[in-house]
Amino acid sequence: MSAPLLEFDDVSFAYQPRRPILARVDLRVDPGQRLAVLGPNGGGKTTLFRLAAGALRPAGGQVAVGGIPVRYTRAGLRELRQQVQLVVQDPDDQLFSANVRQDVSFGPVNLGLPAEQVRRRCDAALAALGVSAIAERPTHLLSYGQRKRVAIAGAVAMHPRLLILDEPTAGLDPAGVEALLRTLDDLHTAGTTVVLSTHDVDLAFRWADAVAVVSGGGVRTVATVDGLADPALLAAAHLAPAWAPLVHRLLDRIPALAGARPRAVAELAALLNDAAPLNDAASDDR
Ligand SMILES: Nc1ncnc2c1ncn2[C@@H]1O[C@H](COP(=O)(O)OP(=O)(O)OP(=O)(O)O)[C@@H](O)[C@H]1O
Ligand SMILES: [Mg+2]
Repeated sequence: MSAPLLEFDDVSFAYQPRRPILARVDLRVDPGQRLAVLGPNGGGKTTLFRLAAGALRPAGGQVAVGGIPVRYTRAGLRELRQQVQLVVQDPDDQLFSANVRQDVSFGPVNLGLPAEQVRRRCDAALAALGVSAIAERPTHLLSYGQRKRVAIAGAVAMHPRLLILDEPTAGLDPAGVEALLRTLDDLHTAGTTVVLSTHDVDLAFRWADAVAVVSGGGVRTVATVDGLADPALLAAAHLAPAWAPLVHRLLDRIPALAGARPRAVAELAALLNDAAPLNDAASDDR
């Protein structure tokens, strides 16, 4: 078995003495995994991500990337940034250059890459996030959703093996969420391992192949998203149940649809329409 891409081994962390935020956490992210991190407000998701990206150092235990423990030196953290990129929750904490192109180029320029390579990486990242048209725009004039996308483009331009996104869909309009999920699928297909946090259990169910719940100082990993139907887990994460596990059970009671596993409402609607077509204009607009 290959080394995990990211591994927390007995990691503890506190911002203040005697106020542990994470206690003795074990977590493993394998190459190619899509991990959704869920948990209540203040549960420790952002703290977990900052530990993974080397922005915080554990008080106890060890964080390793690609089987190698993180070194908290300038050189060590520089190495880490080439493998792990964190897109923070609030894009205003991430964007600081005068315009979009400069911001997305910042990381690659810092790696010391030749100008032509920086340009290519930047153009590709802008295109992947659908923000090529605003490349020359001042960052302070962008809308919230645009700033979110530009912040992600900056991380993507670093070509990380592991991309960690802290609540990337918060504040995006529905079309923006769909576009982001398509981008994440493309990155995943191209070999990037993606971890994201969300409060949207339906999104986790649809997108992830594993789930970790961060609450009460601990992290509980569920190997498959089907574990999201567990009421105790949902209560710990302050989450409403996903619709999909219940709907899957109901579909199993209809012989023609038994075994169908739609993960998005549009997929469910298509299935039902195939079984009993609406035969009107509305169904053509689907
Ligand atoms: N810089 C800091 N100094 C002191 N305490 C902090 C600091 N940052 C976070 N905390 C505390 O750590 C705990 C975990 O916060 P964290 O931001 O990791 O949670 P979260 O799961 O990301 O929450 P949310 O869903 O609201 O983003 C909270 O109690 C928070 O108040
Ligand atoms: Mg957070």
